[in-house]
Amino acid sequence: MSEKKASNQMWGGRFASGPTAVMEAINASIDFDRKLYAQDIRGSVAHSAMLAETGIISAADQEKIAHGLNTILKEIEDGKFSFSTRLEDIHMNVEARLAELIGPAAGRLHTARSRNDQVAVDFRLWVKDELLRIAEALKGLIAAFLDRAEEHAATVMPGFTHMQAAQPVTFGHHCMAYVEMFSRDLSRVRDAIERMDESPLGAAALAGTGFPIDRQATAKALGFREPTRNSLDSVSDRDFALEFLSVAAICGTHLSRLAEEIVIWSTPQFGFVRLSDSFSTGSSIMPQKKNPDAAELVRAKGGRINGNLIALLTVMKGLPLTYSKDMQEDKEAVFDAAETLDLMLAAMTGMVGDLEINTSAMKKAAGAGYSIATDLADWLVRELGMPFREAHHVTGRAVALAESKKVGLEKLSLEELQSIHPAITGDVFSVLSVQKSVASRKSFGGTAPVEVRRQVRYWKKRLAKA
Ligand code: ARG
Repeated sequence: MSEKKASNQMWGGRFASGPTAVMEAINASIDFDRKLYAQDIRGSVAHSAMLAETGIISAADQEKIAHGLNTILKEIEDGKFSFSTRLEDIHMNVEARLAELIGPAAGRLHTARSRNDQVAVDFRLWVKDELLRIAEALKGLIAAFLDRAEEHAATVMPGFTHMQAAQPVTFGHHCMAYVEMFSRDLSRVRDAIERMDESPLGAAALAGTGFPIDRQATAKALGFREPTRNSLDSVSDRDFALEFLSVAAICGTHLSRLAEEIVIWSTPQFGFVRLSDSFSTGSSIMPQKKNPDAAELVRAKGGRINGNLIALLTVMKGLPLTYSKDMQEDKEAVFDAAETLDLMLAAMTGMVGDLEINTSAMKKAAGAGYSIATDLADWLVRELGMPFREAHHVTGRAVALAESKKVGLEKLSLEELQSIHPAITGDVFSVLSVQKSVASRKSFGGTAPVEVRRQVRYWKKRLAKA
């Protein structure tokens, strides 16, 4: 007795009423899975229609069920539905309300079904809808980049390796790198939809059912390509959620790299871009500052999505077949990742569209740091037939000479260049500028403005069909 009392006190104020309250708190998912209400009702309408079609329930009962479910949908949407933790989850909340509304016929809805296949189908429907939303958002972001790339196909900027200016590129080309990345994300979204496009409804608890159900019919009614093929897998599989999270994590990683570049470019030290007021904030103490808060938050939120992916992978690892309550932990990770990614995409699309580009700062930086040295080396190879290694060495000496005179390579005189290698002619100056450097890189996928414009045309056409 006294021992029991002691442990009861341990529960503290929040669970004052003892073990029942603790159990309810740990077991209930209604606080988050209420998000699935529309999918739950869609699934139940399709299931009941199939039950009537196959003669498992009467048409009269089905009519009552469908009518009741529609009433509940409206109640929830109007904010008039009262969710109860005691009823654990969205499935039981809806079913209990249905019984209140239509009486005993409500009890027939759960024939040939279990909450195990019910939650699997609800969640798949939700994830599929979300993936479709993300596909649209990605298309918007890609379109924003294509516009900027077209506008800046010939705007020179430094291309970086090791975060040091390496060779001049165009800003349009840089934008197109993101078009490639986000297009791969879009194709991953499509792949994920394709793979998860199977309905688990009808797997029942885990073994299928003895009732003559029609799984093709429910799959079709819910917009799935076909029903899943194994009842055990149907109720224990959460690959679709894991795949959603990994697609989101990769996309979040791309967004976060972009965010980091925007943070760097918008510093006064770089000054490549200016963020619009809508995506930056002022400092409360330093009046000269304009902080890239939105970009910094996008950079950070990538970490949150990665955390959600690892959380669900860890929940699923080692879980025996088939359903265990552990799997209820799948939803919050997915919901949080979805909300986070939606916001990141919206913020980035806005930022990319609004970004003010400082072309002269970019051009100045593009010429700094002997970024056209490779062009000199390439000229020596092309025009003088020099082996590249030797050309590299000769160019190194030219850079050293220019450095000692504190000038750019193009400012060295022909005599000075000839003092390094006598065969150099005046033609060398035809490659010694950042504009000429980028214009010469016409190889497929290269940075030349003509090539960038060609890639923009290719992606615009492809996006129109995506
Ligand atoms: N709320 C549960 C979940 O999200 C629904 C499935 C419950 N099934 C069960 N056998 N307890 O996983």
